[in-house]
Amino acid sequence: MSSPLLLAIESSCDDTSAAVLHGTKVLSNLTANQKVHEKYGGVVPELASRAHQSNILPVVVEALKQANVTLNKIEGIAFTEGPGLLGSLLVGGSFSKGLAWAMNKPMVTVNHMQAHILAHFVENEQGNYPKFPFLCLTVSGGHTQLVFVKAPLDMEIVGETMDDAVGEAFDKIAKLLGLPYPGGPEIDRWAKDGNPMRFSFPESEVAPLSFSFSGIKTAVLYFLQREKQKNPNFIEENLADICASVQHNLVTVLLKKLSIAEEKYQTQNLALAGGVAANSELRTRFHALGKEIGARTFIPKFEYCTDNAAMIGAAGYFLWKAKQFSPLSITPKPRMTFS
Ligand code: KG4
Ligand code: ZN
Repeated sequence: MSSPLLLAIESSCDDTSAAVLHGTKVLSNLTANQKVHEKYGGVVPELASRAHQSNILPVVVEALKQANVTLNKIEGIAFTEGPGLLGSLLVGGSFSKGLAWAMNKPMVTVNHMQAHILAHFVENEQGNYPKFPFLCLTVSGGHTQLVFVKAPLDMEIVGETMDDAVGEAFDKIAKLLGLPYPGGPEIDRWAKDGNPMRFSFPESEVAPLSFSFSGIKTAVLYFLQREKQKNPNFIEENLADICASVQHNLVTVLLKKLSIAEEKYQTQNLALAGGVAANSELRTRFHALGKEIGARTFIPKFEYCTDNAAMIGAAGYFLWKAKQFSPLSITPKPRMTFS
């Protein structure tokens, strides 16, 4: 079976994205970010659904145009089934189902977290991707998972967070520091000029492959309250050091758990995925860890780390090859796992 020409649609959170792929080769990949949430310091689900509704048609039309492909050439539609915000998923799902029905084309429906991992295979024909089985540390605004990936559609979650996701921890701590949303990139930027050893925060005690990030958020909250009583300008005067210390703490925990998992699974192939994979300290120390323990390390291209439709298309391609098509009766799954 030759590679299909797929239209892929992602709408699980606050990015409306559409892509056209030929197999795993990207012909176009476009994302409309939603600025509307910035002033609230986090994603407002109802506003996200409405913004998806106004963005989806223009984004799809532009993705087809940039790919130089007309709708009748599209062989099938891939879209995000879950997990994510119900209203947001409904917009992408209903749009995709309507289109598939009108065009009488097959659909493949994708698990967003699996797609973050399969982003490693987007546009990657030189074979510069992890070899199966590999371990993937998936770090996003909604999830923190350690995944043992046996094959493109055969993955097992071997560790995850008990509470907040690491991206959420970055965002919530940034909010405490008065930084704009999303806070992860802001902390990353400020941390570059700071001393990561200046402040330390306690690490939560959980099982070896589990994560917990709500403790550090509370520790930072109390720490800031204490320091601000002594010096009302404490945050402004020490922002770079606070950001560097928080980031150092979060990255240390992530990599510690990844090395424990690698000791157990011995894959010699480590992968990083999700929006937090854009973090500069995490990227550098992840590669350094690989060198130290003799494992190859892989990070998808920057634009395929944060939410995007190209990764949905790549996951859709693997589902297509496995003939795992979905019926029109499929419904969005705000909570959805894969193992
Ligand atoms: O994967 P993603 O785009 O969306 C979700 O599926 O959640 O991840 C978004 C998360 C946000 O929490 C954002 O703050 C974080 O990724 N993020 C970063 C950086 N860039 C994005 N966190 C730390 N450092 C960064 N450079
Ligand atoms: Zn995501």
